[in-house]
Amino acid sequence: MKFINRERELETLEKEYSKKSSSFVVIYGRRRVGKTTLIEKFIQNKPSIYFLADLQNEKLQIERFKTVVAESLDDKLLKSLQIDNWETMFNYIFQKEYKEKLVIAIDEFQYLAKVNKAIPSIFQSVWDTVLKNKDVMLILSGSLISLMYNIALNYTSPLYGRRTSQIKLSPVNFFEFRKFFSIKDNDKLLQFYSIIGGVPKYIEFFDEKRVYLKI
Ligand SMILES: Nc1ncnc2c1ncn2[C@@H]1O[C@H](COP(=O)(O)OP(=O)(O)O)[C@@H](O)[C@H]1O
Ligand SMILES: [Mg+2]
Repeated sequence: MKFINRERELETLEKEYSKKSSSFVVIYGRRRVGKTTLIEKFIQNKPSIYFLADLQNEKLQIERFKTVVAESLDDKLLKSLQIDNWETMFNYIFQKEYKEKLVIAIDEFQYLAKVNKAIPSIFQSVWDTVLKNKDVMLILSGSLISLMYNIALNYTSPLYGRRTSQIKLSPVNFFEFRKFFSIKDNDKLLQFYSIIGGVPKYIEFFDEKRVYLKI
């Protein structure tokens, strides 16, 4: 499936990326709205580390993160190193200098915070002591909106005030929706839109050639 639209969001991300200083972007929005797809599109052709968090225990996730870092940076030595906390991990990444800004994206970040309640404080400390002054763009993305608020956006969160930008990803509007289809009949498309809505995942399920609406 081809990538459609999200021009405004991509523009925000590119603007953050082109800043001389570090950037820290929070992306949130309901499941299936296109967060992962947006991140994938954005990091294409950029030096990046993409990590999908889950509900496994933290130690296993740090181990998995380490593997992703080793592969993304093509670092064979790292695989054999013992690393058991986030701070050491990020310090290790920035022992080296990179030619371009390095993007580190942690998707479904709220799961990690569920597994360890101290994650927001840990990442705050990592941001303040390791990442803030590096040529880095940190992206934290998440689906559970209320949880993402508590973790990263509310003033009660340790991460509050660190982000340089935030993106609330919403379902696509009708003008964006149209671009998913080859037919150009606006009335028909409006009928489709009223049924499917603007969540890309559901648009994908929809086969325009096999649907005949009796209206
Ligand atoms: N901009 C887009 N253009 C085309 N397809 C998209 C777009 N955004 C999302 N999709 C499709 O919708 C589905 C759900 O998107 P995904 O990025 O997994 O959502 P999320 O990460 O928010 O749960 C994916 O299968 C993807 O192919
Ligand atoms: Mg996703």
